[in-house]
Amino acid sequence: MGARIRGWGTALPTEIVTNADLEKTLDTSDAWILARTGIRERRIGSSTAELAIAAGRSALAHAGVEADSVDLTILCTTTPDDSVPATSAHVHDALGLGGGAFDLNAACAGFVYGLVTADALLSSGTASRMLLIGAETLSRITDWTDRNTAVLFGDGAGALVLDRTADEGQLLASDLGLDGSARHVLRAPIGGAIQMDGREVFRRAVRAMVDSATRTLQRAKVRPDQVALVVPHQANIRIIQAACDRLGIDRSRAATVLDRTGNTSSASIPLALVDAIHKDRLETGDLVLLTGFGAGMTWGSALIRWHAEGTDQ
Ligand code: COA
Repeated sequence: MGARIRGWGTALPTEIVTNADLEKTLDTSDAWILARTGIRERRIGSSTAELAIAAGRSALAHAGVEADSVDLTILCTTTPDDSVPATSAHVHDALGLGGGAFDLNAACAGFVYGLVTADALLSSGTASRMLLIGAETLSRITDWTDRNTAVLFGDGAGALVLDRTADEGQLLASDLGLDGSARHVLRAPIGGAIQMDGREVFRRAVRAMVDSATRTLQRAKVRPDQVALVVPHQANIRIIQAACDRLGIDRSRAATVLDRTGNTSSASIPLALVDAIHKDRLETGDLVLLTGFGAGMTWGSALIRWHAEGTDQ
């Protein structure tokens, strides 16, 4: 038993905030932001539930399945709309999903944690169809007067429909980890804004992604040059490039959307994956490496064998 990706969808708020917009209120410049991060603009607005609902609806339509055929939903988010209940309750109701639903917070590694969890639940027979969503409204926990963080983050959502399959499935290997002693490096207290030691996050991020991706490839007995596409967490283009260089994977094989979205935490990997699909960058049989890191500090990697359109063919 395994899991197969059957459909996908994304959602972004309509309001675009460019670097030039930020220049008006912050002591910063488009040139600085672009050179240090690779970000040109980000989308702002909506609630986490609204974005999750839109991405989930799109993924269900793409998969061609009814909402009530889903028997378990995971909403990966670090920006729930309320402390209680879980934001997935709103999404479950709005979409008319079947079965249960829960939120998962592993910060920017959240979508990989969610994918590995979904794969395990499908493989064990606990669920036969799952909706996996990464959705964030980081703009709500960003201090828009702090140039150290305000230039980095954005809002968005991405979703996958996953089906149980009788074969081994598409997830070939994975690695999840956490160094909780570094939880002070990046945090947002309840009711407060993101606080971050940017240089320390940068240093740890590259190391965590490289080590986690390496373990994953070793578990699957795959060499870096066999990876067709890397879908990294979209925090900073320099982090992505440094990780690719150290892994020995050509930078051109990295999927990126952060120039248009900024860092959308749990949503960034599905947004980058779906963007790559739309650009015809994936063919059946391709090896795709997802890798992310985030507050906690968490990290997670997953190696997938791509199957075009996902459905049994
Ligand atoms: N505009 C202009 N100058 C800025 C600025 C901005 N938006 N933000 C910081 N600066 C300044 C700093 O104050 C510093 O000035 P100083 O030398 O006078 O003290 C200077 O630019 C260089 O700062 P530094 O921290 O060395 O820059 P950097 O190259 O490390 O880039 C980050 C800063 C935040 C872009 C980078 O460290 C980073 O991306 N870190 C990871 C953050 C992240 O991904 N967080 C989420 C993880 S999921």
